[in-house]
Amino acid sequence: MSADADLRAWLEARRTDIDGALERFLPSAPACPPRVGEAMRYSLFAGGKRLRPVLALASAEAAAAARGAAADSARALAMPVACALELIHTYSLVHDDLPAMDDDTLRRGRPTNHVVFGEGMAILAGDALLTEAFALIAREPQRGDDVADETVAVRKLRTLQIVADAAGPCGMVGGQAIDLEAAGTGRSVDGEGLRAMHARKTGALIRASALAGAVMAGADEAQLHAIQCYGDELGLAFQIVDDILDVEGASQDLGKTAGKDAAANKPTYPALYGLDASRAMAAACVERALEALRAKRLAGQLPAIAQWVIARTS
Ligand code: IPE
Ligand code: IPE
Ligand code: MG
Ligand code: MG
Ligand code: MG
Repeated sequence: MSADADLRAWLEARRTDIDGALERFLPSAPACPPRVGEAMRYSLFAGGKRLRPVLALASAEAAAAARGAAADSARALAMPVACALELIHTYSLVHDDLPAMDDDTLRRGRPTNHVVFGEGMAILAGDALLTEAFALIAREPQRGDDVADETVAVRKLRTLQIVADAAGPCGMVGGQAIDLEAAGTGRSVDGEGLRAMHARKTGALIRASALAGAVMAGADEAQLHAIQCYGDELGLAFQIVDDILDVEGASQDLGKTAGKDAAANKPTYPALYGLDASRAMAAACVERALEALRAKRLAGQLPAIAQWVIARTS
């Protein structure tokens, strides 16, 4: 099987696992009032790529493979945090689309959450997805194969810290705040400022996804350092490609409205450097991501995921 076909088969299997786990982990009525539960599910099960959870599972597998441990046990340990990252990512999309932010009406091929449920409920659905993510990481997994319960608890605590830092004001929320201010004031952002904004608004959760999966699977510090470098580079590449697709992509393929960044005067890579230079910069990020893995003999699906991130069209 080619690396590409192998990745496709692996992604299909993992997405099925992730969707099943999300269903299991989500709260339901009567504990969760039905309307907010419906709004959460509406955005969650709308056909996202599931990049963040698959990254968490791939890095868990890679860490396990490096010491000859089983892939399925590693994935089981990482699945709750993988799902939690998708909950947080989905919340970030619901809030990103609000009229007070990017004011978008199309997401994951559907009308945005606030268009269907109203702004108040969309805000609450986002809040609920975020909060539930941390409850999930604290609660699950309760044990793992061949790992002491105490070790599982220690890994969960470290994971909570990684995810909270990535989602909060020094990570995604901070990046969104910089984006909001820049678009609102029309203040120009230089190359370093743009890189820092992208590293926070998108890179932080992508890096945390790779890192959290590896932590749950028991990676050592040298492996975690390599995976962190990989995640940083991949996160930046991902947002550069997102900016490029906003210029070049079609709304139908993207499942969201193309051409919004230029219309809203957003600071983006194509706006600052042009399309060709942006593509070259994303490719250079991926080269550095692959080098970080090679240096620590980490592989599995991680290299193929990095190639997919720059080749994608949606
Ligand atoms: C879109 O993320 C928002 C960004 C952080 C750039 P994705 O492109 O991963 O969106 P989904 O999850 O596939 O819908
Ligand atoms: C948003 O970046 C990143 C998030 C934290 C959600 P964008 O505003 O470019 O994401 P899209 O293009 O709407 O998906
Ligand atoms: Mg935005
Ligand atoms: Mg947006
Ligand atoms: Mg975008």
